[in-house]
Amino acid sequence: MAFRVRTVRDHDELSTALSAIGHYFGWYPTKEDAERFSRLLPLERMHAVLDDGRIVAGAGVFPFRLTVPGGDMACAGVTVVGVLPSHRRRGLLRRMMDVQLADVRERGEPIAALWASEETIYGRFGYGLASTSFNFDAERSSVAIRSDLPRDASLRLVAHDEALKALPRVYDRVAKRTPGMIVRSRDWWESRRLDDRPEQRRGAGPLVRALAERDGRPVGYALYRLAQDGSTPETWTKTVRVNEAFGVDDGATRDVWRFLLEIDWVDRISGSHLPLDHPLPLLVDRINKLRLSVWDALWLRVVDVPAALAGRAYGSPGRATIEVASDPHFPENVGSWTIEDGHVRPARRRPDVRVAVSGLGSAFLGGLSFAQLARAGLAEEVARGGIERADELFRTSAAPWCPEIF
Ligand SMILES: CC(C)(COP(=O)(O)OP(=O)(O)OC[C@H]1O[C@@H](n2cnc3c(N)ncnc32)[C@H](O)[C@@H]1OP(=O)(O)O)[C@@H](O)C(=O)NCCC(=O)NCCS
Repeated sequence: MAFRVRTVRDHDELSTALSAIGHYFGWYPTKEDAERFSRLLPLERMHAVLDDGRIVAGAGVFPFRLTVPGGDMACAGVTVVGVLPSHRRRGLLRRMMDVQLADVRERGEPIAALWASEETIYGRFGYGLASTSFNFDAERSSVAIRSDLPRDASLRLVAHDEALKALPRVYDRVAKRTPGMIVRSRDWWESRRLDDRPEQRRGAGPLVRALAERDGRPVGYALYRLAQDGSTPETWTKTVRVNEAFGVDDGATRDVWRFLLEIDWVDRISGSHLPLDHPLPLLVDRINKLRLSVWDALWLRVVDVPAALAGRAYGSPGRATIEVASDPHFPENVGSWTIEDGHVRPARRRPDVRVAVSGLGSAFLGGLSFAQLARAGLAEEVARGGIERADELFRTSAAPWCPEIF
């Protein structure tokens, strides 16, 4: 049986390649779906595996920029990875990952990132868990914002066009100080975040857009849907499903969440992908009633070690030397690099810390410390005090936060 990996040639092929992952959602994209998709994922970024000329697997890349400490960086946003069940465990994912990563490196994207369907899959391809997040699912009546906290922003519901203008202004301000966020284009807002076609609703109502303002200026927003289960008033359970909620500062964040928690006549409120340092658990009066659960979030692959290290800022002017001891794809990434005063050079000294390339991916956005990785056997201190020196540099003031699965 002859398998061949290549990029798709047209929208028909794109829709077939997308239906490999679509199979697992009961989604069989049309040519029109593929055309819409290709506004964000160009044909040349979608690989497919052909079995005797028939597409049986696909893997794509959104070529976006991701915020990193001190700025943003070209990133391969790996997505729509799927192999039809008829072809599982015959090495098709591996073939696609090999070709895709080589292509990413050739294009000069220093990092790749993804959300994993299962945590067991991507470590072997050099990805490391780079951020964790929490979800919550609470009874609305048992959580409220603490009564000692003031109110200073007001919220109103806005239509799509106004949201498209105002929300990016808020998001961009938050993204600037938060690693791990996608730099969203207008296309991204339109065809993903504000997309309200019925198939996006998953049993809930239309998208509600609430804008928070202070002195007439946008300072926050929430995107949510109301979902109703049950067919009679006695069995109704109404849930506010929060897609995304941001404030540009502490007061705005608090008031956006207060707005959401005060919506009348609902039974539950749920939200997801919040970073572990998010204030919500401390803003409410009863943290346990939020019923928090912790999840893996972004996985990151450092594709070009020196370029990636040089492309982020560091928390202190100190010096640390990192050894990347192994990389399953790129021997060029194996070696030691010294970071000093924000500059990166090949090292001539003994390393402070030794990691596999996946360990560097975990530490890259500041989401996991080298100390934490070492405690789990995922990093090794080579020189005395080396872990502390490396952590001094890599530490960030905000935990990485990617608010959306892509
Ligand atoms: C996950 C999926 C893409 C794997 O594809 P595949 O072609 O069967 O994978 P391969 O045969 O290339 O396997 C490569 C390696 O990954 C391992 N692997 C594959 N899927 C795995 C899984 N779900 N959990 C753990 N290991 C897995 C294989 O055992 C193999 O291990 P090895 O390196 O020791 O040989 C496929 O099962 C699938 O489409 N699943 C449903 C959709 C999905 O989860 N997509 C990923 C979205 S992020």
